[in-house]
Amino acid sequence: MVARAVAILALGAVAGQEFAGSRACTPCHKDVAARYAKSGMGRSMSAVGVLPPGRVESAPLKRVFEVFARDGRMFQRESGEGFAHEQPLAYAIGSGSNGVSYAVRRGDHLFQAPLSWYSKTSSWELSPGYEHADYGFNRPLASGCIACHSGRPRPVPQSSGRFAEPPFAELAIGCENCHGPGARHARSARRTEIVNPARLPRARAEEICMQCHQGGDARVLMPGKVETDFRPGRALSEIVAIFQAPRVEDTDLLQHHEAMRESACFQKSEGMSCHTCHNPHAAKVDHNATCGTCHKPHGKGPDCVQCHMPKRAIGLIAHSALTNHRISLKPRTAARRGLALFNAGPAPDASTLFQAYGQAMDKRPEFAALFEENLARANGPIALATRGRAALRRGAFAEAVPLLRGALEGGYRVAATFEDLGDALGRLGQPEESLAVLREGLAVAPFSQTLHKSVALRHIQRKDYAAANSALEEYVRLFPEDDFVRRLLKQVSGQP
Ligand code: HEC
Ligand code: HEC
Ligand code: HEC
Ligand code: HEC
Ligand code: HEC
Ligand code: HEC
Ligand code: HEC
Repeated sequence: MVARAVAILALGAVAGQEFAGSRACTPCHKDVAARYAKSGMGRSMSAVGVLPPGRVESAPLKRVFEVFARDGRMFQRESGEGFAHEQPLAYAIGSGSNGVSYAVRRGDHLFQAPLSWYSKTSSWELSPGYEHADYGFNRPLASGCIACHSGRPRPVPQSSGRFAEPPFAELAIGCENCHGPGARHARSARRTEIVNPARLPRARAEEICMQCHQGGDARVLMPGKVETDFRPGRALSEIVAIFQAPRVEDTDLLQHHEAMRESACFQKSEGMSCHTCHNPHAAKVDHNATCGTCHKPHGKGPDCVQCHMPKRAIGLIAHSALTNHRISLKPRTAARRGLALFNAGPAPDASTLFQAYGQAMDKRPEFAALFEENLARANGPIALATRGRAALRRGAFAEAVPLLRGALEGGYRVAATFEDLGDALGRLGQPEESLAVLREGLAVAPFSQTLHKSVALRHIQRKDYAAANSALEEYVRLFPEDDFVRRLLKQVSGQP
């Protein structure tokens, strides 16, 4: 205890417990607040203002998407043969440097809207991912998006993506995201009661930026933690383990730290860090002047950045470009085989590693063996849920049930686990038990399409066709864009 207190005092910063909100800082830090309000981060999320109307037709999806105003609010609508579905836009995500996405609120849950604004072309187009599939208004805004893009979200712990009302204590990224809770400092105005990243050891300061600027190939939350538990000045590894796969290609979406670490400047200088080049309070910085603090010009021209840190298209997201932060004259080479922990912390155990390989496996099927190997040694509710799902897929329903129940009892109460347990019980010929589980799941995740569908199936299994019919009606009311179920309902209810 004493050692820790001394260590904290030596850093000259004690992270407080109580938040004050950015507005509380303004009276004493007017200049910083005014400059920061103009930056991208200071405008990372906002209320929805007046937007230009738009219309996007998707031939492959056979859908029309529109943006329009009604009664002073902005809406998006999706329509196709036989249905139309509209939702008011609740929040704008992104300052618009590259683009703006929109959130809609359904009950206590936030979902992405199908159209985004692309700044480079000044046009409405499908949100990233919607080119391939019709997610309607049902693509949950994962707590991850919200944690990176907003000031102080209020997620309900241990729930399938629920938010308190109001869902944000602070909408845009604010002072306390980087300086820690500041209520005590705002009362005392004492330097020692607020975190100043410039006074932290370099690696600890970088972790403040890393939580949002190093997406990684996998991110695994520590047991019982949510992203918003992170406190500046403390180790990021207390909350999340970020993993990188070996890469040769130069993809730099959300990988600013990895690129910086591979830069000759970072490796061979003592002090280079994010804030060597960026003042997070300022909207624009002269980066070429920064190069000049360590290098002499070599005669190829004054715009160092244009040649050594070029802007490149992201690829994954249309019309968007990011800066290559890998300052190096050498091409990339892949050295490792598996995932490597990116943020310093204790060596990850099997219970962390199986999740990491599970996430990275989507893009790298060669990780399957490492996933299995770690899963076999893992414990905790997420491991139970994963083994339960594997048993279900093998057709070992009786084996799956206790595993999935264990996962729920252990606190992993996500839609997929309820869905899997409901499925296993249904297949074991226990539709009543299955229904009870599915209903419990719907209380946690009321907008899960698979849970609603399973309820209807279970009623059919029980030969209760009236109940099946009303479950399908409820489904179509919530998810009218599902052509298959909409037509099925028409058939069974004998509508034209
Ligand atoms: C009542 C006035 C007051 C309020 C309100 C206030 N500050 Fe300060 N702040 C100060 C003063 C005065 C200093 C300089 C203290 C010193 O140098 O000893 C300071 C210093 C700081 C520093 C630099 C600390 C260092 O190590 O040098 C940071 C960072 C900071 N404030 C952030 C904030 C944030 C974030 C808020 C809002 C949560 C806030 N302040 C609210 C008065 C205030
Ligand atoms: C809570 C998450 C979060 C933290 C912490 C964070 N950033 Fe950001 N940062 C973002 C997001 C999101 C954007 C994009 C904002 C936009 O334009 O909508 C961004 C944008 C930026 C930009 C582009 C210019 C601008 O003002 O938007 C720079 C530079 C930047 N961040 C640097 C940093 C540095 C340096 C740190 C650490 C001191 C840091 N960020 C900490 C989330 C974060
Ligand atoms: C790990 C943190 C992180 C996650 C998770 C994340 N983002 Fe971002 N996002 C950023 C940062 C940081 C930027 C700024 C560009 C950059 O640094 O790569 C950004 C850029 C954007 C932009 C462009 C902003 C602008 O002003 O041009 C939009 C829109 C966006 N993200 C939406 C989303 C949505 C929607 C999700 C969830 C599906 C999401 N992001 C998930 C960190 C994140
Ligand atoms: C994205 C992260 C980030 C955000 C958001 C942020 N700061 Fe800072 N702040 C920093 C960093 C990094 C430093 C250290 C800069 C340096 O000295 O190199 C700093 C330094 C400071 C300082 C001391 C030095 C100075 O520039 O006066 C004050 C005071 C301060 N911040 C106040 C604020 C206030 C008030 C807000 C909200 C309006 C805010 N900061 C938002 C990252 C941030
Ligand atoms: C904190 C000091 C520092 C800053 C700031 C800095 N560099 Fe460097 N840079 C270095 C050091 C040290 C080396 C290694 C020199 C050596 O190997 O002799 C280096 C190496 C390089 C190299 C050679 C890369 C290679 O693969 O050999 C380039 C190119 C470069 N820097 C460009 C830049 C540019 C452009 C900027 C501004 C955006 C910049 N540097 C900012 C310290 C810095
Ligand atoms: C050697 C200088 C240098 C360092 C160190 C540096 N950056 Fe940058 N950064 C730049 C330049 C140059 C740009 C392009 C700025 C512009 O377009 O105005 C940029 C742009 C960005 C942007 C805007 C999006 C983009 O990619 O264009 C973000 C976000 C960002 N940096 C985050 C970071 C983070 C986080 C760190 C630390 C891991 C960091 N930077 C370290 C020079 C640097
Ligand atoms: C027109 C493109 C271009 C511009 C502008 C440019 N460089 Fe370079 N730079 C290069 C190339 C290409 C090399 C590779 C070595 C060579 O051919 O001389 C290089 C090499 C370097 C090196 C490593 C070798 C050395 O000479 O030490 C450093 C450091 C460097 N540049 C820094 C800078 C800085 C700082 C600026 C801005 C004042 C700058 N460069 C502007 C293209 C450019």
